[in-house]
Amino acid sequence: MSTLVLVGSQWGDEGKGKITDFLAEKADVVVRYQGGTNAGHTLNVAGAVFKLHLVPSGILYPGKSCIIGNGVVLDLPSLLREMEALQERGVDLSKLRISDRAHLVMPYHRLLDELEEKSRGSAKIGTTLRGIGPTYMDKITRRGLRVADLLDEKELETKISALVAEKNLLLEGVYRAPGLDAAAVVAEYSRYADIIRPFIADTGLLLDEAVRAGKKILFEGAQGTMLDIDHGTYPYVTSSSPTAGGASTGTGIGPTRIDRVMGVVKAYTTRVGDGPFPSEISGETADRIREVGREYGTTTGRPRRIGWLDTVVLRYACRVNGMSHLALTLLDVLTGLKTVKICTSYDYNGTLLAHMPASLHVLSGCRPVFEEMTGWEEDLSVIEDFADFPPAAKNYVERIAALTGMKIAIVSVGPGRRQTKLLENIF
Ligand code: IMP
Repeated sequence: MSTLVLVGSQWGDEGKGKITDFLAEKADVVVRYQGGTNAGHTLNVAGAVFKLHLVPSGILYPGKSCIIGNGVVLDLPSLLREMEALQERGVDLSKLRISDRAHLVMPYHRLLDELEEKSRGSAKIGTTLRGIGPTYMDKITRRGLRVADLLDEKELETKISALVAEKNLLLEGVYRAPGLDAAAVVAEYSRYADIIRPFIADTGLLLDEAVRAGKKILFEGAQGTMLDIDHGTYPYVTSSSPTAGGASTGTGIGPTRIDRVMGVVKAYTTRVGDGPFPSEISGETADRIREVGREYGTTTGRPRRIGWLDTVVLRYACRVNGMSHLALTLLDVLTGLKTVKICTSYDYNGTLLAHMPASLHVLSGCRPVFEEMTGWEEDLSVIEDFADFPPAAKNYVERIAALTGMKIAIVSVGPGRRQTKLLENIF
């Protein structure tokens, strides 16, 4: 198999960065297809910690092509900071390419994200405040600036001036906030254009050539299925398509060229931001999982909400992504719990629901139906082979496979590359 899409099966933060990093070793090309700096991947390589927001995880392997696809929204100052930090640590960026069709997150998008969230009051989404929603909004309403616009200085000036004037009406008139100085924004982005120019390419074309040459391509999803604009818990979602279909629209590679989709799923569930979360728990067990799993946002530092594994969510993710395999992460975090629970269905006013409801009102009224399993005491992070895992941990993994009809290809029990157990080689 030469093209694999890796997607988050829950509300993001499933440990995709670690699995991407593991698979990237075998890939020729690693591609990001949606989202922006709302994503954060923490990678642990030989004791060194790297935090990536926009640059694909494959960058840490010399010689891999890394592509930021057209579906990504690009915050140039953040990208440049990230590139600089990587270069300072000796990482080679010569094979990084950025789509000329990707949209730019502009200073007014970040401001509007914050102002819109404030104006929603208690109905806020809990966004990362990185300007993601307003940028995608401008893309869809055809007011966006694209990377290609950076290449023509005159046009860049004309477009930025018109857009800033329009946004100032909104900032000043509606939100009573100070407007932006168009000339300063033009100057800032012209500076970025000069730095970024060598990295800009028609990445759809590059990917097509790679597919034709039989190269191994890894599509790296950010966020997760339940945050998808179409399939997630709308409106408590992000504004892009993290699901597998987004890999096609976000890169320019048609769906028939994608061989396989693997979901990354955490052994329990977390969520940052607001919105319903049926298997959520609080108290001692939740606090313990949060501390052991270091469940604090990579991008915002917010403590994540904790819940048991929800297989209603997971089965839904398997379906909308067309997955065949799962990579199970953070199984080691559950060590030491007397019992572990899995949510198998929802109880809505006495009716059992086996599928995700579209209505958030219904979802908010759903009570989880749990199956309880015996826990284990052994430290999984130091066991070399999955075959030597305690029977209770193996049972838990097998139960997830049975409840979803998926094969478990990878089990991860720690941040290091060696703590990743490959049960089936699919890439
Ligand atoms: P936005 O993507 O910043 O607009 O935020 C929309 C929702 O998606 C909020 O609930 C965020 O907390 C959530 N979100 C965005 N990116 C991530 C991520 O990488 N991991 C987990 N949640 C995320």
